[in-house]
Amino acid sequence: MKTKSASKKSTAEYGIEESKLMKLFEDELKDIYWAEKALTKALPKMVKNATNEDLIMALENHLEETEGQIEKLEQVFESIGKKAQAKKCEAMAGLVKEAEEIMKETDKGAMRDAGIISAGQKVEHYEIASYGTLRQFAKTLGLEDAAELLEEILDEEKAADQKLTDIAEANINMQAAEEEEGEEEEAPKKAKKAAKKK
Ligand SMILES: [Fe+2]
Ligand SMILES: [Fe+2]
Repeated sequence: MKTKSASKKSTAEYGIEESKLMKLFEDELKDIYWAEKALTKALPKMVKNATNEDLIMALENHLEETEGQIEKLEQVFESIGKKAQAKKCEAMAGLVKEAEEIMKETDKGAMRDAGIISAGQKVEHYEIASYGTLRQFAKTLGLEDAAELLEEILDEEKAADQKLTDIAEANINMQAAEEEEGEEEEAPKKAKKAAKKK
């Protein structure tokens, strides 16, 4: 497997000093630890603002997962002999702020739901990028336990992103179906008009 051969490479082969990569790994770990904590406050607000039942369920489910991810991150810190520490993640702070603005600017219902999905997917993509990098750093550093935990979280983030895509697509389909129904209702009127012309 590709990932296995990559994990066998030492930091020296990459031309990186191990201590420097370790420092970067720790910094990014602190950054995502802050981000996950911020999300445990942001997700309940998104739940309150959402209307679609599937979306509410997905957000509630991911909130629970996020709480588990914080524990997993604490295990990662522990596995490298460090105390869990958070460092403000400006990117996540920005994404959360943007989500709040979208919720304020849209009417509750389908439009706000679409905005929440959009903001949520941006968050998931940031997390996917972060955990993908962190897992690779851990592998390169030979931190197998950390790599495994980070991969578990990465898979949860990917699934959460996919779930939001599925909900968005189902909603678009529903809207399309509603429009079709509307056309069917208009059809008899058109037929009457055509009949009158005759
Ligand atoms: Fe997360
Ligand atoms: Fe997430």
